[in-house]
Amino acid sequence: MTTIQDIPRPTNGDVVELILADHRLFESLLRELRDDTSDREAARQAFAELHVAHALSEESEVYPRLERKDAISDHEEEHGREEHAEGHEALLALLECVGTDTQKFEDALEELATAVNHHLAEEETSILNPARSEVSEADRRALGERWLAARNEKLAQGCASVEQVRAIVKKAYGEDLLPADDEE
Ligand SMILES: [Fe+2]
Ligand SMILES: [Fe+2]
Repeated sequence: MTTIQDIPRPTNGDVVELILADHRLFESLLRELRDDTSDREAARQAFAELHVAHALSEESEVYPRLERKDAISDHEEEHGREEHAEGHEALLALLECVGTDTQKFEDALEELATAVNHHLAEEETSILNPARSEVSEADRRALGERWLAARNEKLAQGCASVEQVRAIVKKAYGEDLLPADDEE
């Protein structure tokens, strides 16, 4: 069983390796969420906090610096932000499920898994690969430290209540990261 407290909070490392370690944790939390003998409530909360802290800190600390170093393009940065918004919208639907033993929960979970797995694959290919080849090891370590500081601060404060995720999704609509006609 994985709870919010079990989420590792290292303070330094290579940003590429650190992000990959969280991606593995997303995958194992999704597997825990599918398992109806696991504590789905605890796994749902842990997934939500990790997803928001991870993604928003990539947007504030990692993407802009990779873009400034010409490792990724404007378009890749924007596309990453759009996929985070899709992930947050799918996460909101999961958080809004009252029970964790319903068909509604399992449908919301599969939508979330589809959105997140797609993003992990794309980010690892189009963002982490150039970060490996175009950015020095020293800069990757400096980025790792900045990203972890932001991520760990969000985890410490709590960043993924239903209200907080609703506000994140609303802001994403306001920034045109999600298609306008989908807003409820
Ligand atoms: Fe990521
Ligand atoms: Fe991401």
